[in-house]
Amino acid sequence: MKQTEYTMEPSSAPAHRGHVLWQRVLLAVSLLTFWNLPTTTQLTIESVPVNAAEGTDVLLLVYNVTENILGYGWFRGEKVENSQQIASYLVSSQLNVPGPAYSGRETIYANGSLLFQNVFQNDTGYYTLLVTTDNLSSEAAPGQLQVFPKLPTPIITSNNSNPLEHQDTVVLTCEPETQNTTYMWWINNQSLPDSARLELSKDNRTLTLLHVTRNDTGPYVCETQNPVSAGRSDPFTLNVLYPVGQPSIQASNTTVTEHGDTVFLTCLTNDTGISISWLFNGQSLLLTERMKLSQGNSTLTIHPVRREDAGNYQCQVSNLGYSSKSDVLSLEVKYDPTQGSSSGLSDGAIAGIVIGAVAGVALIAALVYFLYVRKTGRASDQHDLTQHKSSDSNHSQGHSDNSPSKVYITARMWT
Ligand SMILES: *[C@@H]1O[C@H](CO)[C@@H](O)[C@H](O)[C@H]1NC(C)=O
Ligand SMILES: *[C@@H]1O[C@H](CO)[C@@H](O)[C@H](O)[C@H]1NC(C)=O
Ligand SMILES: *[C@@H]1O[C@H](CO)[C@@H](O)[C@H](O)[C@H]1NC(C)=O
Ligand SMILES: *[C@@H]1O[C@H](CO)[C@@H](O)[C@H](O)[C@H]1NC(C)=O
Ligand SMILES: *[C@@H]1O[C@H](CO)[C@@H](O)[C@H](O)[C@H]1NC(C)=O
Ligand SMILES: *[C@@H]1O[C@H](CO)[C@@H](O)[C@H](O)[C@H]1NC(C)=O
Ligand SMILES: *[C@@H]1O[C@H](CO)[C@@H](O)[C@H](O)[C@H]1NC(C)=O
Ligand SMILES: *[C@@H]1O[C@H](CO)[C@@H](O)[C@H](O)[C@H]1NC(C)=O
Ligand SMILES: *[C@@H]1O[C@H](CO)[C@@H](O)[C@H](O)[C@H]1NC(C)=O
Ligand SMILES: *[C@@H]1O[C@H](CO)[C@@H](O)[C@H](O)[C@H]1NC(C)=O
Ligand SMILES: *[C@@H]1O[C@H](CO)[C@@H](O)[C@H](O)[C@H]1NC(C)=O
Ligand SMILES: *[C@@H]1O[C@H](CO)[C@@H](O)[C@H](O)[C@H]1NC(C)=O
Repeated sequence: MKQTEYTMEPSSAPAHRGHVLWQRVLLAVSLLTFWNLPTTTQLTIESVPVNAAEGTDVLLLVYNVTENILGYGWFRGEKVENSQQIASYLVSSQLNVPGPAYSGRETIYANGSLLFQNVFQNDTGYYTLLVTTDNLSSEAAPGQLQVFPKLPTPIITSNNSNPLEHQDTVVLTCEPETQNTTYMWWINNQSLPDSARLELSKDNRTLTLLHVTRNDTGPYVCETQNPVSAGRSDPFTLNVLYPVGQPSIQASNTTVTEHGDTVFLTCLTNDTGISISWLFNGQSLLLTERMKLSQGNSTLTIHPVRREDAGNYQCQVSNLGYSSKSDVLSLEVKYDPTQGSSSGLSDGAIAGIVIGAVAGVALIAALVYFLYVRKTGRASDQHDLTQHKSSDSNHSQGHSDNSPSKVYITARMWT
């Protein structure tokens, strides 16, 4: 501790005009040169608390004060300077007398200690106490006030929210920037690993990730600390974009029989952090009540399988930036002749019916033609029959067009 002692000439001012005397004493003291006197005790000042949070009250406590004290003076700064006087206290009157540097928040107690209320950061600095005894010797001691802000909860900002793997360099910053603050980083709840791709700024406030990889996703947490407070950010996750590999489909069986069988299609991928969707004949698969997705959509179960389920299946895996489709898997669904069903007829039976129907049409056509030729031959001289003939011929034309389509409709009902 620095200690300075002051001695002054006796003053002739009347003792009852205490304030005037005191002001004069202080003025005189500040102008005097001084010399050291042997002392038994050392005047010391202690700040309680040592590190104060902004907005709180601080006591500058005085220890080892001599006896027979006339009064105290508190000053801003390291020197006894009248313009920097906060207040003085005269023991005889027990009054605080404000000085030029008084802010309205300071009070000197009878033991010389100074109460500083509602401190600001800019109150940080040195303060000096001057003690004057009734034999007009003076002693000064320095004190220190350190005020720190209460830190807000920090947040992490990134200069690239969706960086590309192996390409982009990302800068993470712990906000806000405050003085006298220590910054720390955590990845996956661990302190930073030793990595050539990780760089901290001088003040540790920014973390640079060179050429990010998918393993740099995080989460990241930054922590701020000063002597009066600490804060931890919410976890921050980096969405590193990387291409997904092509998935493949594994099928329990690609040639199955209708009704009885169950088909399991599994989408195989080595990628994580992906979503899986299914395509049927190139279109997004519409799930029927016989289909079920499980295992995070990686398994498609069809039970019981039906002929309309036959076709080309693909699975598609996607992450935030990329997607990839598997090769086509063709599912063949065969009719099971031993099972009764809504179709009810085998391919052979349907073929037979179609052939039969076509033969029938041919037969009818032949019959119509035969009748028409006969009619025309018989009544070529009759006017009304000529009219009938033309309408009949139209009809026959229409008939030959319509008959096969009727047959197809019938056949379609069976398939
Ligand atoms: C008071 O002064 C003595 C002697 O200089 C010193 O040993 C002691 O630590 C001082 N007390 C305080 C509280 O500073
Ligand atoms: C001085 O007085 C104040 C107020 O009464 C008290 O809080 C403080 O502890 C005292 N200082 C010392 C060094 O005793
Ligand atoms: C100190 O800061 C407070 C607000 O934090 C402001 O009101 C005051 O004027 C400042 N005082 C000085 C001397 O700069
Ligand atoms: C003044 O009084 C103090 C004790 O009260 C004493 O230590 C000091 O030596 C005295 N100074 C003078 C100049 O008499
Ligand atoms: C982020 O900062 C790094 C380092 O300064 C720079 O290389 C990169 O291009 C920045 N990214 C964006 C999206 O600005
Ligand atoms: C706080 O920061 C200011 C400005 O950087 C510096 O002058 C001061 O010494 C610091 N205070 C402490 C206690 O580190
Ligand atoms: C992170 O680590 C701390 C102790 O280091 C532990 O208390 C906490 O549960 C951990 N959190 C997670 C999510 O692992
Ligand atoms: C920055 O963090 C490292 C450890 O990650 C630590 O050794 C260093 O002292 C810190 N620097 C500052 C200025 O806080
Ligand atoms: C990510 O980490 C895994 C497991 O540690 C490792 O096998 C893989 O090669 C890493 N990938 C990259 C791109 O660094
Ligand atoms: C596929 O299903 C068909 C019809 O149920 C069956 O005959 C065949 O053995 C199955 N093949 C395999 C490899 O399981
Ligand atoms: C998954 O990785 C293994 C071994 O690296 C490889 O043999 C396999 O083809 C990969 N599968 C897919 C779907 O990428
Ligand atoms: C599964 O697919 C459905 C749509 O079919 C989709 O809404 C859902 O998010 C997917 N789930 C997963 C884990 O990919």
